[in-house]
Amino acid sequence: MSIRNIKSNFLFINKLQCFKYSTSPKSVATVTLNEKNFIADEYTNLTPKIISYLNRNLHLQPNNPLCLVRQRIVKYFYSSFTHGGNPTFSVYENLSPIVTTKQNFDDLLIPEDHPSRAKSDCYYINRNNLLRGHMTAHQSELLRAGLDNFLMIGDVYRRDEIDSSHFPVFHQVDAVRSQLKEQLFENHRGLNIFEPDFDPMHPSDYKNSIDDPTKQSCHTLEAAKLMETQLKNHLIGLVQALFGEDIKHRWVDAYFPFTHPSWELEIFYDNNWMEVLGCGIVRNEILANAGPNNTIAYAFGLGLERLTMALYKIPDIRLMWSTDSGFLSQFHDKGIDEKITYKPVSVYPQCVNDLSFWLPPSLTIDTFMCNDFYDLVRDVGGDIIEQVKLKDKFIHPKNKKHSLCFSIVYRHLERTLTQAEVNEVHKEIEKAAVNSFGVVIR
Ligand code: PHE
Repeated sequence: MSIRNIKSNFLFINKLQCFKYSTSPKSVATVTLNEKNFIADEYTNLTPKIISYLNRNLHLQPNNPLCLVRQRIVKYFYSSFTHGGNPTFSVYENLSPIVTTKQNFDDLLIPEDHPSRAKSDCYYINRNNLLRGHMTAHQSELLRAGLDNFLMIGDVYRRDEIDSSHFPVFHQVDAVRSQLKEQLFENHRGLNIFEPDFDPMHPSDYKNSIDDPTKQSCHTLEAAKLMETQLKNHLIGLVQALFGEDIKHRWVDAYFPFTHPSWELEIFYDNNWMEVLGCGIVRNEILANAGPNNTIAYAFGLGLERLTMALYKIPDIRLMWSTDSGFLSQFHDKGIDEKITYKPVSVYPQCVNDLSFWLPPSLTIDTFMCNDFYDLVRDVGGDIIEQVKLKDKFIHPKNKKHSLCFSIVYRHLERTLTQAEVNEVHKEIEKAAVNSFGVVIR
């Protein structure tokens, strides 16, 4: 992309609050993302649309189904792995999606010419920075910080088409579980993680060694096999916790530059094999570079959208981004283990009208029965009422009168409602409230 192209793109981007384009006297284009400045270059390919998804943090929004599934996964790891009553895994779900190419690729031994680095696949901020393409981008920094068991959860960005199952932004849960020799071979003292002639302190050893298909050359067969068994059991436990004991699964050999051996787990869902995660034994070179040189670790990464869509029967990935209350309310205030089956919301637009009134002196904001009001709204409005929400409570500072404000969401299942006809129904509801409760419309 030439600088001219970048400029025209950025001028449009400039309209967004979180993104600024400016030209210094030397005519250097800069990109400001989350209050950080980057110098644009021929790699820059962010678009305003993509930037608008930054900071949405769907995985942390209480009404979003992704948030429920995130909580279920964290709960599985918290309850399955403890030491001394404390959870073994620590959870990181607020890591910035702005990462360096070192974090996203180099630290993970992804070769210079690997296709996942292509401009056509990533959202580059510039040559050295990008929106992370996977949560594994944080693996090395957390290992370097001294962590051994952790989950990394967040939004990841990959250039993709938008259709019912693909979206350029999605969410992943990534994890590392490390074991010392004493932990791995708790019941078999005397066994070792590393082959006797291997020196983890000599990184050049990695370059010269050739791995066989079952294990890295540095690991003993016992360590690699035991770790593989644990990894597979833990992940099958996870999909059983989500989909039930009877879920059919299979393991498929895979390749990732940062793990060896590597696998993908597929589950049989809706008459099809569906890939749910990638995993493997972490390349010891990554561990040694980041610090620990006496552990063996497994890692996995799973996409939250696919699991969430399957669990709740959500037909389109774009719905995850919906701010429509007809969608979000289906996941509102739900226990994480509650069985939820998504009911399609009408494709016709919503109309939202507010209704505020003063209560009669006999009632207060605490004694007014909201449920009575909801029934009245449904009685008068019928099927076009999609939702009624209490929006605001207010006590006038001087005259001490009490007031309530409700939002009423109207939507017809078969056609677009006009504002005029909604206003008419709304007026009827106001009249009925005045008659039934003695309120005064504000
Ligand atoms: N990062 C990989 C992906 O996004 C998943 C993965 C994570 C695979 C950790 C192995 C180990 O597809």
